[in-house]
Amino acid sequence: MCGIVGAIGLASPRKYVEKGLKMLDYRGYDSAGVGYYAHGIKIYKDVGSVAHLFDEVAPKLIKTNIIIGHTRWATHGAPSKINTHPHISFHKKICLVHNGVIENFKELKAELEAKGYEFYGQTDTEVVGNLLEEQLQQTGDVFAAIRKVMGTIKGSYAISFFTSDDENSLYVMKKASPLVIGLGKGFNLVASDASPMIDHTNEFIELSDEEYGVITKDEVKIFDGNGKPVNKQPIHKDIELISHDLKGYPHYMLKEIEEIPQVVNRLMNTYYSDGKYLFDKKLIKDLKESDHIIFIACGTSYHAALVGGRYFEYYGKSTSKSIASEWAFHPTFPGKKPFIIMISQSGETADLIHCLDIIKKNKLKNLVITNAGGSSLDRNCQYSLLLYSGIEVSVASTKAYVAQCTLLAMLAAAIKKDKSCMTDMRQSLKVVEEIQSTYKPIIEKVANKIKNKKNVFFLGRSFDYFLSLEASLKLKEISYIHSEAVPGGELKHGPIALIEEGIPVIVFVTDTVTAASMRGNIEEVKSRGADVYVISTKKLSQPGDAIVVTDYRFYLSSIAISSIAFYLAYFVSLAKGLNVDKPRNLAKSVTVE
Ligand code: F6R
Repeated sequence: MCGIVGAIGLASPRKYVEKGLKMLDYRGYDSAGVGYYAHGIKIYKDVGSVAHLFDEVAPKLIKTNIIIGHTRWATHGAPSKINTHPHISFHKKICLVHNGVIENFKELKAELEAKGYEFYGQTDTEVVGNLLEEQLQQTGDVFAAIRKVMGTIKGSYAISFFTSDDENSLYVMKKASPLVIGLGKGFNLVASDASPMIDHTNEFIELSDEEYGVITKDEVKIFDGNGKPVNKQPIHKDIELISHDLKGYPHYMLKEIEEIPQVVNRLMNTYYSDGKYLFDKKLIKDLKESDHIIFIACGTSYHAALVGGRYFEYYGKSTSKSIASEWAFHPTFPGKKPFIIMISQSGETADLIHCLDIIKKNKLKNLVITNAGGSSLDRNCQYSLLLYSGIEVSVASTKAYVAQCTLLAMLAAAIKKDKSCMTDMRQSLKVVEEIQSTYKPIIEKVANKIKNKKNVFFLGRSFDYFLSLEASLKLKEISYIHSEAVPGGELKHGPIALIEEGIPVIVFVTDTVTAASMRGNIEEVKSRGADVYVISTKKLSQPGDAIVVTDYRFYLSSIAISSIAFYLAYFVSLAKGLNVDKPRNLAKSVTVE
């Protein structure tokens, strides 16, 4: 769960690596480092941000033909200077950066130690550097060394390295962690995703699993695991969708919340036209024919799965929804023709990749819904539907969640060719716009009231409960306030014991069927002293409600009013002076189990 950049032949390598690592620090930001060749291997690294590395640690001028950089989210070995990448091998022949996890590193380390190799840190990466060095010394052939090492190490890796006696060759190896090559004229680039490279090129090669290669300033050669050359076709990427530009916003999270209407509109225009849904006909046929749909996802995407599952149920499908890291260990396949829908913003979540292995072994039909074209899940699932939401940089997912819910609503409706969903969606977009233009000051006031609280509750039923789960996750993630989402009806079965004087309870009342019961819940918590903030629709509103939005069809809560939850978390985090876009202990792309 780290970010990698690399360049060869580039005129301004320092600028590229600094900017590139800043763009990739959504993948990890506990330490950063840079390695390059200038009369031998030079490495500068430290705990802390990329800005700290380039402002205080690395030289102001870096003149080199070859450079690699890394921003880390620690897995093996604490975030410390010695564990920060790049790593250098024992005999100082190899300088490398790695994203992923080498599962058998302990055994391999012990074997190397028995042969006299010494290690300075605790990372799994150092083992790979030493294995490459050992093989290189034995064979004198870098490719042979790479092949041997790829056959030895188990786990996931995107690796970029160079050797101490060749400043004209940048090597790459990949399995189950992303690595993209950017093609230039007189230079070539490497990065974990395409975004750091867009100032220089929009032509890319995406490495597939078990491929490796060598990059010089004029050439890229890729091989498969058996050493056979692979002819990779370059792909063009839409600059707008991979741009990291803050566009004047103070934080990515705010920018991304405000992009929600654009994201929903883009999805509606991509997958619906002239009264018809435009999904792959075979996909729709497979979905129709399946007798059970299993949704699998993690975190926020799991909350979208809950919403999506309910949509499919409304259209008569039997569904189950599982958290990926649970399903992976006890997979069940109800029905005779199960169909799996995986949902993942990043398309790289390790828990889901584990599930995909099981899905493939059992030859189950499957689809991924992802925002990341070219990601592991996009490439390896049978079907893939892209969210086209533009890169989401803030660790807290907002626009991607709304996009997931939107796409799921459209996909479910497509099975029955139900066009009313599109009309309802347009109406819910009006609500999003109303919230963004009118209710921000009210939400900010509520945020200021809860910013010093220790616990917050969110209540809702049905779709409002699913939204409560997401609101609660968002709040705890970026404000560090403990929060819980409770289905209104469950309150009396336990959680009400925690309701006391002054505890904030945020309640969603947008569903005609459940409104009366929710009003009952509101009285229950109010009478125990809770500070209640009700979010309701006009039709269901009562005097004293904190926010009343224009009516929309109840099943679209996650699209229509999730912005309220996102703004609330944003304003609380801001009021507490926290790092909104990069909350502690988290990373955007969770590529380790
Ligand atoms: C929360 C958040 C996470 C992710 C989860 C799954 O704001 O973003 O809970 O939803 O880590 O990630 P993806 O969707 O990339 O599989």
